[in-house]
Amino acid sequence: MNISDIQNEIIRLKKEKDICILAHSYQAKEILEVADFTGDSYKLSVDASKVGNKNIVMSGVRFMAETCKLLSPDKRVYLPNPDAGCSMADQMDRELIEQMKERLPGYTVVAYINTTADLKTVCDVCVTSSSAVEICRKIDNDKILFIPDCNLGAYVAAQIPEKEFKLVSGGCPIHACVNTDDVKKAKALHPDAELLVHPECTPRVCAEADYIGSTSGIMNYAINSGKTEFIIGTEISIQEHLQYRCPDKRFYYLTQKLICPNMKSTTLVDLYNCVAGKGGEEILLDSDTITKARRCIDEMIRLGS
Ligand code: 13P
Ligand code: SF4
Repeated sequence: MNISDIQNEIIRLKKEKDICILAHSYQAKEILEVADFTGDSYKLSVDASKVGNKNIVMSGVRFMAETCKLLSPDKRVYLPNPDAGCSMADQMDRELIEQMKERLPGYTVVAYINTTADLKTVCDVCVTSSSAVEICRKIDNDKILFIPDCNLGAYVAAQIPEKEFKLVSGGCPIHACVNTDDVKKAKALHPDAELLVHPECTPRVCAEADYIGSTSGIMNYAINSGKTEFIIGTEISIQEHLQYRCPDKRFYYLTQKLICPNMKSTTLVDLYNCVAGKGGEEILLDSDTITKARRCIDEMIRLGS
């Protein structure tokens, strides 16, 4: 079978089996082409809450599929490749946060959505990279414990100096390993390009950027800008997607280090096997986890809308 044969089979099977496919923007182009909804973590969370189908396939990483299950506990939710985790989400466990809460009473615990459902059960509100500043501003408390990404936390804290933020040392190893030498090299190679970066990059890298934003934020900025050249400081797939979307503009990756093996691990064949009922994993969460973890997702959608 070639790529378009597999895509056609996926489209046929999803109609036959009442499946909705959600795909994060970091997924491969051939996967995005057969998805019903695409976008960043926040958009997909909101889309997932409105899906009418009996079955949801989340082509992305595990915490995204768990978020779909939290929002649609009566639906069957599947992750096409069970190995697609997130190095950031796997960094922190519930016990650590429980200990921190004891040491910091009176703080609102804000969890980046890149966390496990189990960890979300002890947090107050979730945020995504596109909604974090707005939500932290609206929270009715001046004391915020922000977990697990200290880079995103530092970015948010700088936008809201009137509030006190406590950060922990965690984050995305892919974005965090970009350094100012990478920026210097990319700018020297492309002196007329604007630098657009994800806030999971370090504050020193963000300080060099012309624009800082989520996956969708970066894409919308580049699509709507009057400028024609951009260095893309987030997962390498975004540079490729933008190049297809705007063939008259030029997109360069900031560094080849920006490859997320978790996001890359799902293939079109994994997606096909999943919708065909021959692969993937159904996400199962117990009712106690769903009740407790869902509160902070609901709070994110309430404050973010
Ligand atoms: P977005 O919130 O931009 O979708 O980011 C998710 C993510 O995993 C970035 O590494
Ligand atoms: Fe997780 Fe980083 Fe990959 Fe995003 S890029 S899914 S935060 S490991």
